[in-house]
Amino acid sequence: MRQQIVAGNWKMNKTLDEGVELTKAFLEKVENPNGLVVVAPTFPLLRDIGKLLKARKSFHLAAQNCHQEEKGAFTGEVSADVLASVGCEFVIIGHSERRQHFKERNEILAAKVNVCLARGMRPIFCCGEPLPIREADTHVGFVAKQLKTGLFHLKEADFRKVVIAYEPIWAIGTGRTASSAQAQEMHHAIRVLVAKKYGKVVADDTSILYGGSCNAQNAVELFSQPDVDGGLIGGASLKAEDFAAIVAAMK
Ligand code: PGA
Repeated sequence: MRQQIVAGNWKMNKTLDEGVELTKAFLEKVENPNGLVVVAPTFPLLRDIGKLLKARKSFHLAAQNCHQEEKGAFTGEVSADVLASVGCEFVIIGHSERRQHFKERNEILAAKVNVCLARGMRPIFCCGEPLPIREADTHVGFVAKQLKTGLFHLKEADFRKVVIAYEPIWAIGTGRTASSAQAQEMHHAIRVLVAKKYGKVVADDTSILYGGSCNAQNAVELFSQPDVDGGLIGGASLKAEDFAAIVAAMK
């Protein structure tokens, strides 16, 4: 069954004390969410934040990235094995900031997806186009390529564990949200692509989140779209009140 999910991506923000305070504050504000709530702090905070989340039903821990190799001489990197061992259930893979600043290509992302699944974690696979691609009206083809290379090598049973996050790059951290119609158009196009590859039943079960300047004001409208199954939230996940309001907007 398709799940509604709101995931908070803290990016490179919050010290341990700040993260614990934020988590306690939003846990107090959220009663019974309509779907899953996922929180992705930075690596050193995972265990502490995970313990707080675990005490509550429907709350789950995510990492913001992992390395594609199983283990070995990769100084400074973190493996899927380690992430699973500290309680991660989800891993964000292919965020546009990773693609842009760390040159992560779709082929590497496919390998990251594989190691996460092999360790029993669910990838939140990010896709989305930059502004020139949107303006040239080639965004659907651009995202299709990201999905084909990064995800569509998976067998159906593994694909069923994946969450897709559509995040138009021009909307991330810019305050410029995609309109609900733009989000719905792309989410529908993604579902059609999934249906072509894995069939309609799988496509209908796949959670597709929207990300990019989603906030407490626009979440209800965005999430009310039939193919928008929640959101991947950056800036607004750093404020307990805003994040709680977005969680409450799940349909
Ligand atoms: P934003 O970030 O909500 O701050 O735009 C979204 C994301 O990068 O996942």
